[in-house]
Amino acid sequence: MSTHTIAVIGGTGPQGRGLARWLAAAGHKVVLGSRSAARAEEAARAIGQRVGVEVLGDDNLSAATAADVVLVVVPWDGHRELVQALAPGLAGKIVVSCVNPLGFDKNGAFGLLVDEGSAAQQTQQLVPTARVVGAFHHLSAVTLWESEDQLQHEDVLVCGDDRDAKDVVADLAAAVTGHRGVDGGALRVAAQLEPLTAVLININRRYKTRSGVAIQGIKR
Ligand SMILES: NC(=O)c1ccc[n+]([C@@H]2O[C@H](COP(=O)([O-])OP(=O)(O)OC[C@H]3O[C@@H](n4cnc5c(N)ncnc54)[C@H](OP(=O)(O)O)[C@@H]3O)[C@@H](O)[C@H]2O)c1
Repeated sequence: MSTHTIAVIGGTGPQGRGLARWLAAAGHKVVLGSRSAARAEEAARAIGQRVGVEVLGDDNLSAATAADVVLVVVPWDGHRELVQALAPGLAGKIVVSCVNPLGFDKNGAFGLLVDEGSAAQQTQQLVPTARVVGAFHHLSAVTLWESEDQLQHEDVLVCGDDRDAKDVVADLAAAVTGHRGVDGGALRVAAQLEPLTAVLININRRYKTRSGVAIQGIKR
């Protein structure tokens, strides 16, 4: 397995923290990013203690600049402004969008309409030289942090227009699930993958569980 320097933008949140945990445990050098370097360092220490390896923390732009793979794990609110601000650190890199533009009302969770199609496509438009891949949308933050074992019963669906970048991210998924991510198609498919998370959230509420995605019918 190739090892990477991976920035986790928004890594102080539950989803970024959960992904960072498994990526660091797999031997990647992980740099948590935050709007506050001090917050990132504190969160990185907690993850490092959990995993038993050093995890670094820095402000978002410094973390992105230091990395060859950048995970964007932030809320949809403020996404455009954040990606614009980080563009110099994202240019030319593999950028993994884990962002789900979701709304919530009395009927539950639902996918928001996004002008560009999806958060991942918005990132691609804002940073044209980035090799944007959509992935890790459907893993529960609680499961990522609490599980003692890899999430072998789940699949990470990966989409993107750059085949090599998609292969790198499919390999990263193995750190979390024990097997490569599943190629779901071109980057435009992020417009289907991101709102699928709303369905999982509604299932979780209805059945009081933490549901995930598992694909049948492909050879491992
Ligand atoms: N939680 C889950 O179970 C889950 C599962 C699958 C996918 N996701 C997706 O993963 C993403 C992150 O989820 P989360 O639950 O970890 O979110 P979160 O806790 O709300 O936010 C993550 C981090 O993003 C930063 N942030 C918040 N608002 C920001 C803004 N306006 N601009 C820049 N940075 C901001 C914060 O870090 P600083 O304040 O330190 O900068 C925060 O700790 C979301 O798009 C979500 O849909 C979440």
